[in-house]
Amino acid sequence: MPGTELFGAEERKEINDVLETGMLFRYNHDQQRNGVWKAREFEAEVRKVTGAKYAHAVSNGSAAIAIAMAASGIGAGDEVIVPPFTFIASVEAVLFIGAIPVFAEIDETLCLSAEGIRKAVTPKTKGICLVHMCGGMADMDGIMQVAKEHNLILVEDAGQAFGASYKGKSVGLFGKAGSFSFDFFKIATAGEGGAFITDDEEIYKLADAYSDHGHNHVGNNRGMEQHPVLGFNYRISELHAAVGLAQTRKVPHIREINRKHKKMLIDILSQTEGISFSKLTDPAGDSATFLNMMLPDTETAKRTVDEMNKAGVGGFNYWNTNMYHFINQWDHLKKMQTASKLPAQVLGMPQDYNTLELPKSQEVVGRLISFGIRCTWTEEEIKTLANNIAKAVKAAMPVAV
Ligand SMILES: Cc1ncc(COP(=O)(O)O)c(C=O)c1O
Repeated sequence: MPGTELFGAEERKEINDVLETGMLFRYNHDQQRNGVWKAREFEAEVRKVTGAKYAHAVSNGSAAIAIAMAASGIGAGDEVIVPPFTFIASVEAVLFIGAIPVFAEIDETLCLSAEGIRKAVTPKTKGICLVHMCGGMADMDGIMQVAKEHNLILVEDAGQAFGASYKGKSVGLFGKAGSFSFDFFKIATAGEGGAFITDDEEIYKLADAYSDHGHNHVGNNRGMEQHPVLGFNYRISELHAAVGLAQTRKVPHIREINRKHKKMLIDILSQTEGISFSKLTDPAGDSATFLNMMLPDTETAKRTVDEMNKAGVGGFNYWNTNMYHFINQWDHLKKMQTASKLPAQVLGMPQDYNTLELPKSQEVVGRLISFGIRCTWTEEEIKTLANNIAKAVKAAMPVAV
């Protein structure tokens, strides 16, 4: 959780600016706020980190991905291809806008694969909700190609990958729109917060209106005259934006340290038989928030986690622990216990989630053990951790007969 590790004077200064004015609302009240516009500044910083033409801060990453999809043209009854390995928010967001999640296979990138998407396309497929998992990035060349072949709307949930890029371009900018989370666990936190980015002015304007009951925000203030669409309240408060601003400024620094720490871990762990790592399609663009270690098979991964637990080493396997990031833990989804009831009861479901088989995703997630990288680690701590992990893997590896 690197962002919160560095919470300090900079965050307090930005919060205090807001407290001085008492203006916690992000729009209007120009006189009282005395030039303090934290949401606007936060958005400018998100644009700086990502290179996006437009960025808009909202209440959380779940809202950001829902709005990004809706503003990109996905809606009721549309099939949207999603990964079975993501935080459930990505799938909930599809359901929330009345669309239907269709699961496809991931691969060793931990993200949807182009081949997986191709196999899941039907005549009703409208879009792809591509999730950049665990700080890394998907195979963008392959995925852009399949999106083009089938004329699909690509939207990127980069909730876990703020600061990551592919061939020099920020994640979130390959499709029509992208989203980030700034919740407590991310590389930069606002406490609670999210943002969507896009290079498309029309999508930006629509998403902006969706985030605030359809109000347009001409001049970045809240116009009460024109309401192009119905929306909802996904506004961010000035206090959250103030924290997000200070934290976002720290992202290049955090990323640099994280990359160094991750490399040190990998250098040591690579010497142990049986350990490999998830595939980074552009290693230079890794946000390096996670070390994603792959074991030869699920059973070895399970035994490794047991060994690590015994030795008090952190790290988790998403399949065998209740991390809530893999489809095998989503019983509510299998029963379609949704708020709107729209897709299941009204539109019908193209996939039976109870009988759905995704062997490749199961294999990948079963073999995966992830560790959050800390930017405050000392060199000694990193070496100790790596050696403890290596010891656990050695103890868990099957004995040759
Ligand atoms: C991939 C992904 N998408 C969306 C979200 C939701 O973000 P938030 O917690 O800000 O709503 C998360 C949160 O962990 C996430 O990991």
